[in-house]
Amino acid sequence: MTQTLLLLPGDGIGPEVCAEVRKIASALTNDLKIDEKIYGGASYDAHGAPLTDETLQAALEADAVLMGACGGPQWAKVPRHLRPEAALLGLRKEMQVYANLRPALCFDALADASSLKREVVAGLDIMIVRELTGGVYFGEPRGIDDMPDGQRRGYDTQVYTTSEIERVSRVAFELARGRRNKVTSAEKSNVMESGVLWREVVTDLHAREYADVELEHMLADNAAMQLVRRPTQFDVLVTDNLFGDILSDAAAQLTGSLGMLPSAALGDAGKPGLYEPIHGSAPDIAGQGIANPLAAILSFEMALRWSLDRADIADRLYAAVIKALEDGARTRDIGGQLTTAQMGDAVLKALG
Ligand code: NAD
Ligand code: IPM
Ligand code: MN
Repeated sequence: MTQTLLLLPGDGIGPEVCAEVRKIASALTNDLKIDEKIYGGASYDAHGAPLTDETLQAALEADAVLMGACGGPQWAKVPRHLRPEAALLGLRKEMQVYANLRPALCFDALADASSLKREVVAGLDIMIVRELTGGVYFGEPRGIDDMPDGQRRGYDTQVYTTSEIERVSRVAFELARGRRNKVTSAEKSNVMESGVLWREVVTDLHAREYADVELEHMLADNAAMQLVRRPTQFDVLVTDNLFGDILSDAAAQLTGSLGMLPSAALGDAGKPGLYEPIHGSAPDIAGQGIANPLAAILSFEMALRWSLDRADIADRLYAAVIKALEDGARTRDIGGQLTTAQMGDAVLKALG
């Protein structure tokens, strides 16, 4: 049965990197239907909403959704619920993709592109599991109020329930079993109540069902430091929505560039996954054709593996990315001169 991939190119470099995914997808298989919908700032400009009902419906009905990026300074003054980022958060929430897998992998050919020493990042293979549909991103109340003394007060709510913590931790433990069998759970239980609950729930689940997996608890600030001190100590790192956002950007730089890190957002079995590079719309380089498309291409690779049941093609694509890098293909962010399209072509060539 032909499967459907919904492409949401979005804004800034999103359409540039998604064009390379399209090229590669059609070279790899003619058995995949690719639909495309307007999304993010582009959708706000055209329809007055960053995520239309039509786009949302198409996402819920697809087998997998691949997003480029959304946002940009031109929408900074738009009310929050109509900003491009609201489309992204809305999509994650509606698709119920609570577990965000962000693999930080240092390809050997790129160990010198990292800002850390080769010996610190060589062999790096971390799977960050970021909780994606809860926490301070969605907690109520939130707002900016006027106070009687003339000041204003801005506030957000960090909130997690037992089941939200348990289901994302379960994903982390399951992944660890297929890897190096270690989970590090990061929170701030020393200052936050939600952190205390997080640690308790992870500890209980571990004792009940995953005692064979090594579990370590780490305060999130220490985790940030350990990531740059000795990143190879981590196997699976599970954490909340906000810490996961920050720690994954830091981990991305270990691999050479933010332009290298893909992600898969997954919900319960049988539901479509949402795939996105972890980088944004990169307004500083948008329109120049120099963005690194590998994060988007590797996000497609994750879609093939995790949603489309095509591990065979995913393996081929993964090997082609490694070969292209070994053959010296480099965009500017990883120390080379190739354009976005030339990098896509280098992967195509390596596919043979
Ligand atoms: P960003 O990730 O867009 O860019 C950060 C830096 O990394 C920039 O210097 C950029 O040029 C570079 N970079 C990012 N991707 C790259 C690539 N593929 N190749 C080469 N260089 C790359 O983050 P930002 O500047 O903080 O945010 C810009 C906008 O993107 C904001 O509106 C933000 O909300 C949005 N954003 C969207 C997503 C998403 O759609 N998933 C993710 C992050 C940020
Ligand atoms: C990410 C981004 C998003 C986030 C923004 C754009 C809403 O930074 O996907 O990492 O904070 O989740
Ligand atoms: Mn981020």
